[in-house]
Amino acid sequence: MDDSFYRQFGSPEKPARKFSAPARINIIGEHVDYLGGIVLPAAIDFSIDIMIRPNSSNTYRFYSENFNSLTQVNDIVKVEKHTWINYILGVIDQLQKRKFSIPGFDLSLNGNIPQGAGLSSSAALEVVLTYALSKIYKLDLNRTDIALIGQAAENEFVGTKCGIMDQFIISRGKKNNCISLNTDTLEYSYHEFDLEDKEFYLIQSNVKHSLKDSAYNTRREECESALAKIQKIYPKIQNLYDLADDFDISSVSLTLNEKKRLQHVLSEKLRTQNTIAGLITKNFQLVGQCLYECHWSLSKNFEVSCPETDFIVETLQKESIIGARMIGGGFGGCVLVLDNKESNKNYKIELTNSYRKMFNKDLSFYQFSISNGVHEVGI
Ligand code: GLA
Repeated sequence: MDDSFYRQFGSPEKPARKFSAPARINIIGEHVDYLGGIVLPAAIDFSIDIMIRPNSSNTYRFYSENFNSLTQVNDIVKVEKHTWINYILGVIDQLQKRKFSIPGFDLSLNGNIPQGAGLSSSAALEVVLTYALSKIYKLDLNRTDIALIGQAAENEFVGTKCGIMDQFIISRGKKNNCISLNTDTLEYSYHEFDLEDKEFYLIQSNVKHSLKDSAYNTRREECESALAKIQKIYPKIQNLYDLADDFDISSVSLTLNEKKRLQHVLSEKLRTQNTIAGLITKNFQLVGQCLYECHWSLSKNFEVSCPETDFIVETLQKESIIGARMIGGGFGGCVLVLDNKESNKNYKIELTNSYRKMFNKDLSFYQFSISNGVHEVGI
């Protein structure tokens, strides 16, 4: 990485600084982080790594090793080609809106977070850049500010109306811990958990849905319209997640889609509480059951799964694997699996074969460890 930075941008007399941000998984609490819900994410050891150095001009230069592409920008205007650049421009835009001066810099980046896998490569890029700019231009941002700036870049500049979960965990992740985050108040606590003879791993469906971002925004709009109708009758309700689990959905005149979205949100509350309790008391069967129930709620009620991830989860359930579910925004990407470390993994070969036969696609299996959040490398 050092070589490619200096090859692109010149001599190492003024050394560039290196920063790294992780990917994330979410154990449970899916599609509730823009509804004031509780989420349970963790940072994992896939990363986006950057090198950065001010260049004493007003020009920004970005080099992506993965795409082998160099881009030079003077004005902060959204680009259609090379959409990864919009995450960078979105961060500069947000910092300028907050009245920070961001002089020109040179940036090279590379990483191993698979794109479109639901592991938040875009949030990692937003967070690593915001963190790095805060360090090199002494902006004195704390880790929550950094997460909020990353989210605002994505909401306002890129146009995906994501919640705060991804940027928050990438900013505040801690080795061997997940975070339970209240996305309404941003209060959070770390949970160190020991899976004993069990493990989490990921199965990547290798499905990337081209309408993912627009479908995501539609789900959010449906939840907002349901909330507006509920507030007409129950004005004290601030967030959908504030409703009691046994809220009488028929008491409000909602569309079928609004009802289904609400059913997911209401049921996810209890599953999240049970999952946290299950991790603490080492009741892994309970955790697994919550993961499966969460998946089918996301599939049938929130309608953000796809035939491929449904097939993977259904197969795992038939194989009596402890638990599994799609994670992240959905419409493809990864399935998180909770399994015995020593279990007979023969099913992997069969699943890979039947998946290829059915969908003409390969599966990838990823092991990971739970890691720290964004940091400077080498200090
Ligand atoms: C994406 C978004 C998050 C969150 C998840 C679903 O990853 O970026 O904010 O909404 O989907 O839980």
